[in-house]
Amino acid sequence: MIMKRDYESRIQKLLSRMTIEEKIGQLQQCGPSLVGAFDVSFEELLNMMFDGRISQEEFGRLMSTAEQDYHEEDLRAGRIGSYNGVGDAATANRLQKIAVEETRLGIPLLFGYDVIHGFRTVMPIPLAESCAWEPELWEKTGRIAAKEATAAGIHMTFAPMVDVARDARWGRISEGAGEDVLLNGAYGAAKVRGFQSDDLSRENAMAACVKHFAAYGAGEAGRDYNRVDMSLQRLWEEYLPPYKACVDAGARAVMPAFNDINGLPCSVNRWLLRDILREKWGFNGMVISDANAIAECVNHGIAADRKEAARQAILAGMDMDMTSNSYIECLQELVESGEVPEYVLDEAAGDVLRLKFELGLFDHPYRTTADREQNTLLRPEYRAVAREAAIKSTVLLKNDNNILPLKRETRVALFGALAADKGQMTGAWAVGAKAEDCVSMVEAFAARGLCWRYCGPDADEAALQAAAETSDVLVAAVGEMKEESGEAASRADITVNAEQMTLIRKLASTGKPVIVVLFNGRPLAIPELHELAAAVVEAWHPGVEAGNAILDILCGDVNPSGKLTATFPAATGQCPMYYAHINTGRPGGKSKFTSKYLDAPIEPLYPFGYGLSYTTYAYTGRKVEKREDGIHVFVSVTNTGGRDGEEIVQCYIQQMTGRRVRPVRQLKDFTKISLKAGETKMVTFVIPYAGLSYYDWEMKEVPGEGIVKIYVGGDSQAELAGQAAL
Ligand code: BGC
Repeated sequence: MIMKRDYESRIQKLLSRMTIEEKIGQLQQCGPSLVGAFDVSFEELLNMMFDGRISQEEFGRLMSTAEQDYHEEDLRAGRIGSYNGVGDAATANRLQKIAVEETRLGIPLLFGYDVIHGFRTVMPIPLAESCAWEPELWEKTGRIAAKEATAAGIHMTFAPMVDVARDARWGRISEGAGEDVLLNGAYGAAKVRGFQSDDLSRENAMAACVKHFAAYGAGEAGRDYNRVDMSLQRLWEEYLPPYKACVDAGARAVMPAFNDINGLPCSVNRWLLRDILREKWGFNGMVISDANAIAECVNHGIAADRKEAARQAILAGMDMDMTSNSYIECLQELVESGEVPEYVLDEAAGDVLRLKFELGLFDHPYRTTADREQNTLLRPEYRAVAREAAIKSTVLLKNDNNILPLKRETRVALFGALAADKGQMTGAWAVGAKAEDCVSMVEAFAARGLCWRYCGPDADEAALQAAAETSDVLVAAVGEMKEESGEAASRADITVNAEQMTLIRKLASTGKPVIVVLFNGRPLAIPELHELAAAVVEAWHPGVEAGNAILDILCGDVNPSGKLTATFPAATGQCPMYYAHINTGRPGGKSKFTSKYLDAPIEPLYPFGYGLSYTTYAYTGRKVEKREDGIHVFVSVTNTGGRDGEEIVQCYIQQMTGRRVRPVRQLKDFTKISLKAGETKMVTFVIPYAGLSYYDWEMKEVPGEGIVKIYVGGDSQAELAGQAAL
């Protein structure tokens, strides 16, 4: 738990010395702008890269030669309180020196950055890491990210993202812990602990900024930034709990989402930012807008101009303006005219100052040095954790006839451009990543002394056939490019693309077993690939240790244990697809008039919670008992195979009746246990009665009542353990 110190009198004292302009300056976050070498805007340059007019390498080259404008005159004038996107110690310290020594009051700067899944030691993408179902791991990788990022001068990360994501078309499903409410909360809280440690003033602690508040993952049709229109009951039951879990874990910043909820954009939503966040949940940290989001309220059509947007945002409780310049340009007039009372400005500036005090910036404005930066980034022990995380994130989706693990003498032919593409291994939102840090599958194969060959994307038909003929198994690395997930990367078709499918078909037609390794940032709809492959290994975008971790699994040095945290649909048209759906009056079934599609199965391709292992587990002795503190659930899990392993045991409930319809299953608890071959362990879960409450039609919280069924097992289709009458 975070140690809280009281800075209120210092904040008030400082505020009393500040001019209105200086207070507004504290609310301004700006990013460096690019100047120089090219005559197109940065946005256009980005577009050029995304639509393929220039290559990623070309983009990188232009960026590295471009000069950055840090708006130093504004900084000196006290018009900047924070930067976004400064990620090196030298620049951070140089700018900090200007703030501390050359501004009238010497208030230090706050540096924010997107440290989403590691900084330089890039860890698996969050969706991948969530498949480890291991809070200790999530915290540990968060701690490493904080050590590296703070060494590079960063004070706050725009993470964790805990947007429950149930539509795999949404590209940002890659940035969070998937579709489940409980898992997102557990993941987010662990990240908060990892980023912040127990004392934010430590030089290697960084503030967590929980995002995107709220329900950004529920955008209509999975299209990014799209409207969210949902019942308040659903919002409270299925979307808000993970943000609350992060606030309870002590997160010191929150970022409202781009989207509107029921017609009101989150950036100007007083109910969210004041009534819920501050009053109900007791949050007294800083609220920072998403990039340009305040100005975008004009596009939403909720404000006529930026001034009106600024007024609505600050009144709603938005403290800091990320890069839209709405506050810096409009607030002064609004305060002077009385449209925004000065105490509202004081509260907002006070929230920013509080965070700066908590980070210890007034006493130690330079929290790092270039030396520390150099000695910290990419340390071998961090790489070791990245490898552990990538292993634990990997989900074995299919393994016919135990084709995996590979035997030492097996001859392997490796295919697919992704097998050699180091830069693709980090996935979306790896801002501090360098391609040369990453280990590709090709490099990892080469390092192992196996009998293998690589048949790259340029190889012709004859080369492919020859490789297949002289090998025992064919390994194909396919999936998505990292640009195909993350922000502004929604897809209307979440299959593996035609070129890659052609490769898989060709390989399968040779009659040799095909092992598919998937690199992707979202669940994919791949029923044909599943049919053609003998084994499917979901590696996601695994980070810097990609190749090593995948080879550890393929060769059987470790036993895979990851389980899916997002459902894999069998067809894109099934989206949104998630296990915790409701039943309807006509649950999908064989007969005609039931809830289903004519041209897609009812079932997913791979359900939530699913994942195979090189061993097998048997669940016996399931039992349920009602006790005073809650429903106790017991089960024995035996490792019935020949290898040691780790199993993720999951406990679900179903409330059979309610005053509003209840989901067919809800994850209520989980644990990961290690079992030696032949070993049995007893697992107990306790489901407190309070955890069964929900909202009725009138939005009153009501306790669970009637029959509750409890299911325990290794995935969301777990068997019934028993039931309890409440
Ligand atoms: C994203 C945020 C991110 C911010 C800052 C926005 O476009 O939505 O998640 O933290 O940029 O870079």
